[in-house]
Amino acid sequence: MFSCNNYLSGLSLLGVLALASANRYESEVMNQAMVDGASHTIQVDDDFVICDVDIEVDIVRGNSSAVHIDLSFGGMTVDLANVELCSLNAIFDDSSTTTVDSVVGCVSYGTYQPQGSLSVFNSESSQGSWTLEFPSFSGFNILTQWAVILTPCEGAGTGDPHFKTWANKWYDFHGVCDLVFLSNPKFAQGTGLEIHIRTKARYQYSYIESAAIQLGEDILEVGAYGGYMLNGISNADLDKLDKYTITHQMVSSKQSVFIVELGEGKQIVIQSFKDLVSVKTVGASFEEYGGSMGLLGEFGTGQWLSRNGTVMSDADAFGNEWQVLETEPKLFQMERFPQHPVQCTMPSHGKVGRRLGESIAEAAAEKACEHWGDLKDQCVYDVMAAGDLELAEAGAF
Ligand SMILES: *[C@@H]1O[C@H](CO)[C@@H](O)[C@H](O)[C@H]1NC(C)=O
Ligand SMILES: *[C@@H]1O[C@H](CO)[C@@H](O)[C@H](O)[C@H]1NC(C)=O
Repeated sequence: MFSCNNYLSGLSLLGVLALASANRYESEVMNQAMVDGASHTIQVDDDFVICDVDIEVDIVRGNSSAVHIDLSFGGMTVDLANVELCSLNAIFDDSSTTTVDSVVGCVSYGTYQPQGSLSVFNSESSQGSWTLEFPSFSGFNILTQWAVILTPCEGAGTGDPHFKTWANKWYDFHGVCDLVFLSNPKFAQGTGLEIHIRTKARYQYSYIESAAIQLGEDILEVGAYGGYMLNGISNADLDKLDKYTITHQMVSSKQSVFIVELGEGKQIVIQSFKDLVSVKTVGASFEEYGGSMGLLGEFGTGQWLSRNGTVMSDADAFGNEWQVLETEPKLFQMERFPQHPVQCTMPSHGKVGRRLGESIAEAAAEKACEHWGDLKDQCVYDVMAAGDLELAEAGAF
């Protein structure tokens, strides 16, 4: 009865891997007359932690009425609108700068900031009954259709390197060393999940050159051009990591994708595009990641937690905090300088500037990155830093 489709709400960095996607759950097309106290529920079965909620509502064919619309979920209720209207074809989105109070006249199309804040649902699990309620209104209107649009919290590391915390917020860390991307010893009743990444400097920028993921006793290491090792053996047969199914696909001679299936649609995706490697999670719930630590921050909040649990505020200090320690297991087969206690090598002059990629004209990069939406600037930066226009193509995947 309800359909869910995945659509792209913005392409990110070297993007392939870090596509920010939202799940849309829509009601059937209805002709439900709204009367005082009417409501309609959409049941969401998927279970992931939410980073953003938008609500789409289509109301038609009414005469002018005072309409009050609420959204309820998990025992919390948010006021969407309390307005005079006839028809409304609206997306309620906290980040809109148009308040719903400005709805006037008989037909209103647009994206509006709701009266209450939908952010109260952030960090909650998506699973359950989402209910649109009409506590009161005068007049006669019909609810045609509505939808709940949920953006899962997903961690990622890609590009320059840029990292996306569990709160879907990006930051940069340019230190060169081995880093704890994610550590959760409690994963799957003690099976354990560890992901390390290795960064590398090139000219004056840095990128992720390889990633290693350990599930139980099995370790998969992925490097440039899709090269991989399973438990130290190059190109070993690859169908399981511990008990988890893994698929491996060469998308093109430049691009390879490894997908670890954690069940119920949740995945860890490791990808290489030429010699750049990215890692991201698809869907994420407390069951897999609750209590995890590392460069993605605290699960549920995305706060930058140090090893001792204090909250950090400086990206360089936070990145360095998660250098793989000499006391920790080494996931990569070959050691590479620097290894703790030698600290990460930091770029010589703080922020790396755009001038680095002078070999590519900014205009050409802008053009190549046009389809990257919100993250176009990051794309332009990476293309110019790497001096490689093909990086922009990767986003089309
Ligand atoms: C709106 O339409 C309903 C149903 O036709 C009618 O009962 C009501 O009086 C109308 N209200 C206004 C304000 O025109
Ligand atoms: C906790 O970790 C932070 C970051 O490394 C450090 O600055 C702080 O001194 C530590 N606090 C304690 C009590 O160890």
